[in-house]
Amino acid sequence: MSINLRSVLISDPVDNLCADLLISHGVPVTTKYKLSKDELIQEILKHDGLIVRSETKVTAEILAAASNLRVVGRAGTGVDNIDLQAATRKGIVVLNTPGGNSISACELTCALISALARNVSQAAQSMKEGRWDRKLFSGYELSGKTLAVLGFGRIGREVSHRMQSFGMKIICFDPMLSAEDTKKIGATKMSLNEIWPIADYITVHTPLIPQTRNLINATTLSSCKKGVKIINVARGGIVDEEALLQSLKSGHCGGAALDVFLEEPPKNPITLELIQHPKVIATPHLGASTAEAQERVAVEIAEQFLAISGTSNKYSV
Ligand code: NAD
Ligand code: MLT
Repeated sequence: MSINLRSVLISDPVDNLCADLLISHGVPVTTKYKLSKDELIQEILKHDGLIVRSETKVTAEILAAASNLRVVGRAGTGVDNIDLQAATRKGIVVLNTPGGNSISACELTCALISALARNVSQAAQSMKEGRWDRKLFSGYELSGKTLAVLGFGRIGREVSHRMQSFGMKIICFDPMLSAEDTKKIGATKMSLNEIWPIADYITVHTPLIPQTRNLINATTLSSCKKGVKIINVARGGIVDEEALLQSLKSGHCGGAALDVFLEEPPKNPITLELIQHPKVIATPHLGASTAEAQERVAVEIAEQFLAISGTSNKYSV
């Protein structure tokens, strides 16, 4: 299958390597960020290819209006911001770059786990405010603690591998993997009901699908050990934000590190209160935001566009 790519729109900040590679192979590229829905509907008419990251919402309405669009690519892991069913109905090909940013998302997760254990973020802020409080920010060692990894795919496994070097015991849950598979990577597969009462830290690395929406909720949090710490560098919605806030306020949950939110940027008062909670470390969806990951996904998506247009034979689609 080959698509004659006459013009590609890049509507989110994707590394310049993407546009450079397409242009060097004779594919014209237009770069326009922060388009309103109406502006995007007007602009997309001129293009047969669209490349996005997270910000552009490629909804059924946009796809319906895009009469010339043949291919949408996401320079990232999931395709959450693209309406797959609507694209499929119109015969529009959807591409992404799974794996291109896994190491970066894993490294942020590991950094957040360490920061939670040692109150790094709160202590650093207090110094900037001119305080010197060694007692308040005393923390805990990670060595000997139990880390539960929910979703043992690309990122979950990399996190498991690295956190074992801190001396953490890794337990995990993933319906697609057997206990033998996870054992090879040094992790013990358990049921969720076995995990809740024994985990000191719980990090989620699943896609956001009906089965994982609110996976961490009021009931599961209440089954957890007092002081449990929750980390979400996967997708907003896997952790029920209101339940997490209540658990933090009651003192049952001992801390949380969140890179992703139900709504981005967050506007909901509950999410805003959660972000302000003293035991919460919040980052603005930075999992994939490294020079290396952004270069990798930019080149990968451009190469896939070239392959689908028959310009390169690196991938066969
Ligand atoms: P992956 O597909 O390699 O792994 C996901 C794993 O989740 C799979 O092994 C799957 O079997 C498992 N899973 C599915 N349903 C499950 C369930 N109900 N319970 C437990 N496990 C379940 O994905 P990945 O590349 O490791 O990415 C993981 C998540 O991280 C995705 O949501 C992705 O979009 C997100 N992500 C976020 C950032 C960021 O910037 N914060 C960057 C990259 C990826
Ligand atoms: C992803 O799924 O790859 C991330 O959310 C990263 C991004 O927003 O680019």
